[in-house]
Amino acid sequence: MRRPAARAVVALLAALGVALGMVVVGPASVATGARAPTVASPTVARVAGADRYATSVAASRAAFPSGTRPSVVYLVSGTSPWESLSATPAAVAQGGGVLLTRPDGIPSSIAAELDRLAPDAIVVVGSTSAVSDAVLAQAAAYAPDVRRVGGSSRYQSAQALVRHAFPADSATHAWVATGQAWTDAVVAGAAAAAHREPLLTIDGRATALPSSTVTLVRDLGLTSVTIAGGTAAVSAGIEAQLEDLLGDAGVTRASGADRYAVSARLNALAFPDLAAGSAYLANGRDVVNALAGAFLAGRTKRPLQLTVPFCVPAAVRPSLTAPAVTKVVLLGGEGSVRGLVGTLAACRSTTTASSVWVLVNKRNALRPTSYVPGSLTVPSVTYANGQRLRSDAAAAVARMFSAARSEGAGNMKVASGYRSYSTQYSVYWNRVSTHGRAYADRWVARPGYSEHQTGLSLDIAPVGNASCSTINCIGSTPQGTWLKRNSWRFGFILRYESGYGSVTGYSSEPWHFRFVGTSLAAGYHRGGWHSLEQFLDEPAAPTY
Ligand code: DAL
Ligand code: ZN
Repeated sequence: MRRPAARAVVALLAALGVALGMVVVGPASVATGARAPTVASPTVARVAGADRYATSVAASRAAFPSGTRPSVVYLVSGTSPWESLSATPAAVAQGGGVLLTRPDGIPSSIAAELDRLAPDAIVVVGSTSAVSDAVLAQAAAYAPDVRRVGGSSRYQSAQALVRHAFPADSATHAWVATGQAWTDAVVAGAAAAAHREPLLTIDGRATALPSSTVTLVRDLGLTSVTIAGGTAAVSAGIEAQLEDLLGDAGVTRASGADRYAVSARLNALAFPDLAAGSAYLANGRDVVNALAGAFLAGRTKRPLQLTVPFCVPAAVRPSLTAPAVTKVVLLGGEGSVRGLVGTLAACRSTTTASSVWVLVNKRNALRPTSYVPGSLTVPSVTYANGQRLRSDAAAAVARMFSAARSEGAGNMKVASGYRSYSTQYSVYWNRVSTHGRAYADRWVARPGYSEHQTGLSLDIAPVGNASCSTINCIGSTPQGTWLKRNSWRFGFILRYESGYGSVTGYSSEPWHFRFVGTSLAAGYHRGGWHSLEQFLDEPAAPTY
């Protein structure tokens, strides 16, 4: 690996990042102390468009603002990453960019960007099954030199891309990733691009490299490699073979417990002395935006980290809270990476019954179904009705009811709070006996499947209204309207919204509020979300 760039150069690049035209969507809070140095949280920006192609254009515009143009644009499939994993560092090494295309034709947004960029050359990446000849023909309208670089498999395409961009004896270090998964390869590809080095995409399950890869290693003049991922991704046999070729000291492995830990380790190896500037964050469960933005991170010599779409994984978070990260750039829209990630909110369990982020629905029973929360307490509000909640939710309810009153929304009561397994059993089977099973399942959770059993949910009824005093009509009262607009400020979400029954599994319940903590509730509100299932990137739960 090359030595890290001099600090002055990287600082200049960081300054250029500011000039790249990315929208800063809001400075996070700035903490100050009496004598302590001021520590600023990173600002947050997004590179995003209405769809994957528009996001790709946004990345291209950030990389090549007016007055700059790429020598070459690599056109990669926007629907399958497999033949283009080695394209990012190839493009960046040639001073070029990457744009996504539909396999059957160039989308109009991409065509407009190609028109703007006016590159000298276009490389269509992969075989005809990745990107069709129709794209090759259309590309001819935008550059004098258009060619296809690919092979008959993802590995052959990778080799062709490396050979196209890296002549013999042009690289001493390379990055090696399996082509069986995209996560390690995309992060390693951005790191490789940052160093203007190649990424060798190989079949990591094999016990040895094919002779064509060994020849490529020799032809490039490599003296060292960094392997992305553990031995399940790239086998110990391949590592040993590379050690035979390059010497033990020439082989480094970036392993980790999961894709996020590998991402963090790869970036730690790629950027040991990171100067102040941006870090890019992409959804680690969906390749499209990572693929669209990887070249931008690489071109600007900044890290690309993978993230859970709604929170920052523990393995990645320390690198983002480090002083060198002054700006977090989210790749893709809210649907891909929530604004909550930009606040560097740490992930919490969505499956542990005691977690404030637990998802309980028809697909996700409480574990164990007999779960009883600790710290149950009657909230100190005028109309607690003897109902108990978890102490954190109870304190938030007290703040919320007090604010509602002082803001003119009137009084409210806790109609139902914590319900034990046996209480839920009674509530459910009573409803079945009066209304039948199908009706009961639209309104009441089966025992072991109710949020009420977590101590985090409550049903709220208005107090003091002439026309409504039960949960059933709260939706059309000032209390119901105020709660719908303001409960997020106190850490609650309206859990079962009208129009989302096919996702949540329940009819609209304008009375049922769920405590999720103030950070998630604020992120949920600001992001415009309407179901916890969708916010947490979980499948819909219409039935058991
Ligand atoms: N009414 C909600 C769905 C419950 O019973 O938990
Ligand atoms: Zn309820």
